[in-house]
Amino acid sequence: MERELTMEFARVTEAAALASARWVGRGNKEAADDAAVEAMRSVFDTIRMNGTVVIGEGEMDEAPMLYIGERLGGGDGPALDVAVDPLEGTNIVAKGLTGAIAVVAIAKKGGLLHAPDMYMDKIAVGPAAKGCIHLDAPVKDNLANVAKALHKSMDDLTVVILDRPRHQQIIQDVRACGARIRLISDGDVSPAVACAFEGTGVDIMMGVGGAPEGVLAAAALRCMGGEMQGRLWPENEEDVARAKALGIEDVQKLLTLDDLARSDDVFFAATGITEGHLLRGVTFTALGAMTHTVVMRGKTGTVRFIEARHSFDKKPKYAMKGVF
Ligand code: FBP
Repeated sequence: MERELTMEFARVTEAAALASARWVGRGNKEAADDAAVEAMRSVFDTIRMNGTVVIGEGEMDEAPMLYIGERLGGGDGPALDVAVDPLEGTNIVAKGLTGAIAVVAIAKKGGLLHAPDMYMDKIAVGPAAKGCIHLDAPVKDNLANVAKALHKSMDDLTVVILDRPRHQQIIQDVRACGARIRLISDGDVSPAVACAFEGTGVDIMMGVGGAPEGVLAAAALRCMGGEMQGRLWPENEEDVARAKALGIEDVQKLLTLDDLARSDDVFFAATGITEGHLLRGVTFTALGAMTHTVVMRGKTGTVRFIEARHSFDKKPKYAMKGVF
């Protein structure tokens, strides 16, 4: 994939973030999501590529835009798999909490796992702790190995976990080891990616969250040289059938980074909607808005942070006057 696409994908997530940021704290997660989807879709249309949505807003009959199988882009470019989450953290935006992002991952056709919309048990770390984790290992072993690799004492290790009743045991196990925990209300992509950056204050992300979100995080960790493992977490026979329909015959299979994001020819882009572990949120100013985006290219391992200023005078569609 051409390096020029990097900037195009940053424009895609910036547009989604700008649109959904209008809905921060307004208690309407559907409207926030719709705004992000529409904005993201319209920018994809301007890119010269022949993309197919492999992770998106749902099946064709569930979503008007960015549905699985939808074709994206000008059509005459390279054939690409596109994973999108225009608004990762719908409740976060509705309530005005921290950690919502607009996110995409793009790979050559066949480069991303076609994950069903169901849960996945996950563990993720950055490059310094690569090779030190195993999804099936006891929590204390994973934490001890990661602490050693990061040259940290156990007390200084920080684990990110979704605040859910299903994580009671992991939370108890982490606390018994003496490590610190950041419980998050929603949005496990951003902290999983943040584990790959020193100075973000988080070292490991673990627990059960969305499988599509797992693939998005895996794409970033692939670019960064980090590690992630996952296993689908079906709740019923319907989930099992859904996984099989997407070609995942063995739902119990341990999915490594190579299964989730299959090659280095992958891009990842995310823009902060609200302040998070890795990115600042959208801020509205007198003349427009500012966004903070990270873009990565797996082939070269280049990671760029882009702080952008958007002028409402010159791009009036972002002003969205009269929306409320
Ligand atoms: P939405 O953006 O679709 O609301 O999902 C956000 C999220 O918190 C993900 O980051 C996470 O993987 C998943 O939902 C967890 O699901 P649940 O809320 O059912 O525990």
